[in-house]
Amino acid sequence: MVEEELIIGRNLKKFFPIKTGLTSRSNIYVKAVNDVDIVIKKGEVVGLVGETGCGKSTLGRLLIRLIEPSGGELYFSPPPEVLNKIKSNQKLSDEELKNYSIFHMHKNKLREMRKKFNIVFQDPYSSLDPRMLIKDIVAEPLFSFGWKKKDAYARVQELLEKVGLPAEFMYRFPHELSGGQRQRVAIARALSLSPEFIVLDEPTSALDVSVQAQVLNLLEDLRKEFNLTMLFITHHILVVRHISDRIMVMYLGKIVESAMKDEIFKDPKHPYTQALLSSVPIPDPRVKIERIILEGDVPSPINPPNGCFFHPRCRHAFEPCGFTTDELIEPLRFVLDNKRNPEMGNAEIQEMNVIDDLNMEVTFNNPVQQGVVESIIQKEKEQTRALYGIKEISVNGNLLKIKMHEPVDPKLKDIGNEHLVACHLVNPPEIK
Ligand SMILES: Nc1ncnc2c1ncn2[C@@H]1O[C@H](COP(=O)(O)OP(=O)(O)OP(=O)(O)O)[C@@H](O)[C@H]1O
Ligand code: SF4
Ligand SMILES: [Mg+2]
Repeated sequence: MVEEELIIGRNLKKFFPIKTGLTSRSNIYVKAVNDVDIVIKKGEVVGLVGETGCGKSTLGRLLIRLIEPSGGELYFSPPPEVLNKIKSNQKLSDEELKNYSIFHMHKNKLREMRKKFNIVFQDPYSSLDPRMLIKDIVAEPLFSFGWKKKDAYARVQELLEKVGLPAEFMYRFPHELSGGQRQRVAIARALSLSPEFIVLDEPTSALDVSVQAQVLNLLEDLRKEFNLTMLFITHHILVVRHISDRIMVMYLGKIVESAMKDEIFKDPKHPYTQALLSSVPIPDPRVKIERIILEGDVPSPINPPNGCFFHPRCRHAFEPCGFTTDELIEPLRFVLDNKRNPEMGNAEIQEMNVIDDLNMEVTFNNPVQQGVVESIIQKEKEQTRALYGIKEISVNGNLLKIKMHEPVDPKLKDIGNEHLVACHLVNPPEIK
């Protein structure tokens, strides 16, 4: 039973500045990781899934401080008394921060810590230096920690054996190996310093399906043998179905759901997870999933939507989910069109004026009836979810004024059984 927390991330952020002009300064950012709380327990394999561009690799790199954070805190293996403080949001002493916070550690201590985590990248073709022999590629981390050549090469031989490669591969160059063999070399190198935590960033997606299965089996064996803790990143949820203990689902820089594997496959709560799962064939006749088409693209992480980031694509979005007036323009033009809706009589839309995110005005050529508009909105909102965002309307002659509900950010909430969900459906807020 895994219980001890190995990695704890709080409010993790990584914002990449975007250059927009000739000046080097920028105030536009890609919010690749946007306020993530994460806990990974010792010995656990966590599958991190989500569509392309949702921030999986950035989060993985942040967790081993391969990139510098824009905010938040990251702790590695804190002892119980420090853990209690972290959990109860107490301030840590400078000493505690220096010892257990990856972002505050002195560089000498951080260098020592680097032995404890490593990463395997997606592309085994570009991640291995083509000019180096395999023995030196695998030994490189050992040399950087002062290992003598003789000991390092003996260790390389042992590691190659562990990943199922013959010792003579030590004297080959990467181009003399197949994709699967190269990925085994990358895994051997990642294991060289006996790490406790490994990030695997799409380690099998560049490989043929049959080779994928072999590499997954190898990882499974290594995980048991070395009691490794792993974060396995993939955009294909089925890849991690077997190997993971727990699955985390990421959308636009945030974790939206996290649960033990069986629970998430049987009872996904977040509409995004439901859509992801419905798009893959689950080879289990007991699991019946309705096919849900994920419409539209992932919005830009530069300017994410208000409220719940998923609301523009969510088929359950409702009042607090974050609709803004700009999302209402097209739906209103459609539902209040008098050619489509005879109830609108001879009132045609003349002008739509967005005042701010929550207020707008629509001017008609003829007077409209408040009751008629209200009944159309009521009738159409199941189909046109943005209409749920309307809080109140008032009509004065030709002028329709619209006020929207205030957006509420869904927070990750534990609904029991270590199942965390960030969705207003499971944790309904007060509607403002
Ligand atoms: N160095 C960088 N500079 C600017 N933007 C970046 C940088 N690295 C990543 N991004 C952006 O951050 C967002 C998240 O990228 P990331 O690579 O973490 O996504 P991902 O979930 O791993 O996607 P994929 O499944 O395609 O690998 C994307 O919008 C990406 O364009
Ligand atoms: S909070 Fe839940 S219901 Fe609302 S948009 Fe997000 S996922 Fe959909
Ligand atoms: Mg990636």
